[in-house]
Amino acid sequence: MFWIKKIRLLLLLVFQSLVFLFLFQQFYSPRPCPIPTEKSSHKHVLILSSWRSGSSFVGQLFSQHPDVFYLMEPAWHVWLTLSSGSAGQLQMAVRDLVRSVFLCDMSVFDAYMAWGPRKQSSLFQWETSRALCSPPACHLFNREAIIPQADCKTLCGKQPFSTIEEVCKSYSHVVVKEVRFFSLKTLHPLLTDPSLNLKIIHLIRDPRAVFRSRQNTEQELLHDSHIVMGKQWDRIKGEDHPYYMMKTICQSHKEIHEAAQLLPDSLRERYLLIRYEDLVQDPLTQTSKLYEFAGLPFLPHLQIWVHNITQGKGMGKHPFYTDARNARNISQAWRWSLPHDKVVKLQKICKDTMDLMGYLPALSEEDQRNLSMDLLSTAKIP
Ligand SMILES: *[C@@H]1O[C@H](CO)[C@@H](O)[C@H](O)[C@H]1NC(C)=O
Ligand SMILES: *[C@@H]1O[C@H](CO)[C@@H](O)[C@H](O)[C@H]1NC(C)=O
Ligand SMILES: *[C@@H]1O[C@H](CO)[C@@H](O)[C@H](O)[C@H]1NC(C)=O
Repeated sequence: MFWIKKIRLLLLLVFQSLVFLFLFQQFYSPRPCPIPTEKSSHKHVLILSSWRSGSSFVGQLFSQHPDVFYLMEPAWHVWLTLSSGSAGQLQMAVRDLVRSVFLCDMSVFDAYMAWGPRKQSSLFQWETSRALCSPPACHLFNREAIIPQADCKTLCGKQPFSTIEEVCKSYSHVVVKEVRFFSLKTLHPLLTDPSLNLKIIHLIRDPRAVFRSRQNTEQELLHDSHIVMGKQWDRIKGEDHPYYMMKTICQSHKEIHEAAQLLPDSLRERYLLIRYEDLVQDPLTQTSKLYEFAGLPFLPHLQIWVHNITQGKGMGKHPFYTDARNARNISQAWRWSLPHDKVVKLQKICKDTMDLMGYLPALSEEDQRNLSMDLLSTAKIP
């Protein structure tokens, strides 16, 4: 009966081989790659703006939304740490940092923060993020509540830095506000990155209003202005620095907008231009437009809140706080507070950008002071 044993052994071997092959196929065969037609289920929004253009305000519109994890100016850390670089040299580092933040990978900050135990409060302006003021970061506030920054700052700063990643991952939308990009070209790889689902909100503001606002916050902007101007800092007379800055800012807005028009359709729909003045004139409609673009519902408590903060009285004392002040009044303040000769100079420097964005020049001092004269054109803005 030797041959029966042999056949049984053979059958066993064949069976084992089949099982092995089956398992091998299950675990080791190259699976078809996930087809990148479906973008990441998370949504990413970049609020792209420049200093003193109402981007903190727009940032808050998103930060207070219960589906949003928001960070304000994370690239501040890049500019602080690598402060000998110029804005152009730092753009790639800024982009890579923003990409990591979108993917909730906060290890990227290792390169830009001191060693040793870190807290949530090591992050620049962390308290402007409602997500870092509510569970799982801080259990003193409700995730669905409007959380005042000052209250959050005193109560929620002690969380370890590592919490930030966990918090970020618990949201469907990651929104970042940055003033440290000067071209759309730098951002192109993020727009086409299959692990991201990026939309860009390009927020601009009347250069004359920006100029006025920068005058009032010159000291706070000094470090950044130095990086933007680079070698020009010493070459150009101090009194001309503000105009050089405005030239750089106006040019970058023009370039970004023009580059966006040249994108293929599938990417161009990921870009939205918004003027700060339109936002303050009709906050509810414009906010609803922004939320729709980002794929967020305009929840009832947010509608009431937006109404509240845009009808508030007073001018707001600290330049980085945006709540409870009459934003509409502020958007026209340059008209009675800037000397006309400065306005003329600015209008020359920023002419192309102003033409493109529908900001009409004040041709005389009378026109500038006469507030019934509308200097905002709707002709070119969709
Ligand atoms: C809006 O303002 C009213 C009146 O000051 C206040 O009672 C209410 O809590 C505010 N609501 C929001 C959501 O800010
Ligand atoms: C608001 O605008 C008016 C002019 O329309 C101006 O006189 C006033 O100083 C501004 N500021 C405030 C706080 O109302
Ligand atoms: C202010 O502008 C309005 C609208 O253009 C004009 O009708 C009015 O006469 C101007 N007022 C003065 C004092 O120039």
